[in-house]
Amino acid sequence: MSTTFLPYAERAARLTGSVIDSSTSLLASQPHDIVRFAMGSPADEAVPLDEFREISAATLDHSSFTYGATEGEPELLTGLVDYLVTTSEPTSRDRVTITSGGMQGLDLACKIFVDPGDLVIVESPTYTNGSATAASYRADLLEAPMDENGLIVEALPDLVERAGRTPKAIYVIPNFQNPSGTTLSAARRELLLDLAHRWNSVIIDDDPYGLLRFAGEDLPSFQSLSPSDPLLFSVRTFSKILAPGLRVGWVDTDPSIRQLVVNAKQSMDTCANVPAQQLVAEFIRRGGLSDHLTRIKALYLERKIAMVESLKRNLGDRITMTDPEGGFFLWVTLQGDDAATSTTALFETALAEGVAFIPGPALSPSGKFDDALRLCFATSDPDRIEEGVQRLTRALDAARAHR
Ligand SMILES: Cc1ncc(COP(=O)(O)O)c(C=O)c1O
Repeated sequence: MSTTFLPYAERAARLTGSVIDSSTSLLASQPHDIVRFAMGSPADEAVPLDEFREISAATLDHSSFTYGATEGEPELLTGLVDYLVTTSEPTSRDRVTITSGGMQGLDLACKIFVDPGDLVIVESPTYTNGSATAASYRADLLEAPMDENGLIVEALPDLVERAGRTPKAIYVIPNFQNPSGTTLSAARRELLLDLAHRWNSVIIDDDPYGLLRFAGEDLPSFQSLSPSDPLLFSVRTFSKILAPGLRVGWVDTDPSIRQLVVNAKQSMDTCANVPAQQLVAEFIRRGGLSDHLTRIKALYLERKIAMVESLKRNLGDRITMTDPEGGFFLWVTLQGDDAATSTTALFETALAEGVAFIPGPALSPSGKFDDALRLCFATSDPDRIEEGVQRLTRALDAARAHR
């Protein structure tokens, strides 16, 4: 049977897939031991497995296995809003919709706001699953540079002028950005809000890591700087603070677009996974979330320090790296002779050595940053981190020797 003339939608050509996600099946198919710095997965020790088992046995019943409300399970909405009121991002029930993870929040934002040909500004580097979502709605992506204080918001007016049109949306990961680990400064948050209002652009505020600050002080969130702002579409998830396999997240939007969010979600999946929502709801109801966060933040701080020290010890001035105050990732840029090593090519050598990372080009829609790589420090304990960095060093040595 010939497939030459299948009547593909135009968007099908933009469904490029994800190097990040594909690394999960790639690594699963490797027979040898690999230190996993690639996926942004929580540590096994950071998933409250015993509590989940206990709660599942005690809580799941017939109501768990039928359709749920699109808005989300009522107990989860109540528990989540009550929890968030104790954080720097208080919200209310009429703003929150439970989603199937953060990815669905991004899809909802783009589905509601992005038409084919719309300009969408993305950070460079960025979480390319997010930029790919905008691209799947046929957005034109405009990559904007970053520095140690996150997106260089001051550069946006010039970029927009050169593009000849204003953006429909600005996709930003304000805290411990994936992949760079940097945090958007308070002044830039305010400037971004000003620009969004000037251009009538939606800010897709994707913040899976904000509750994982393990050093420094919280910065004001977009929500706190601009309360009740319909241009703010905030995407959140339990994937990093509890477990990604739950596939439970939420979006926080102005009540005026909440019904549209629900309508859009109804054409995707009707409701998020009900047993997983009930599990999370009961975990929150029992008061476990803040102690859990305190515990895992300490774990991640220890791992971040272990990775920074190990990289300094093993690679010294062959690299520069960011030093995140939270989240999962740091971003390494090769220096000197090593800068000529392609991290895309290095991936194969490193995999054979027994360590996996995400090469820089996989984190830019146009494939920039072939001299950089993303490392996740969250998944491995300090001994494994040292082992992984030594393997990475051997792979870099081999790449240099073969040039
Ligand atoms: C910045 C960012 N946004 C969204 C997501 C997706 O979250 P989820 O796994 O809940 O879909 C991730 C996961 O890595 C992420 O890092």
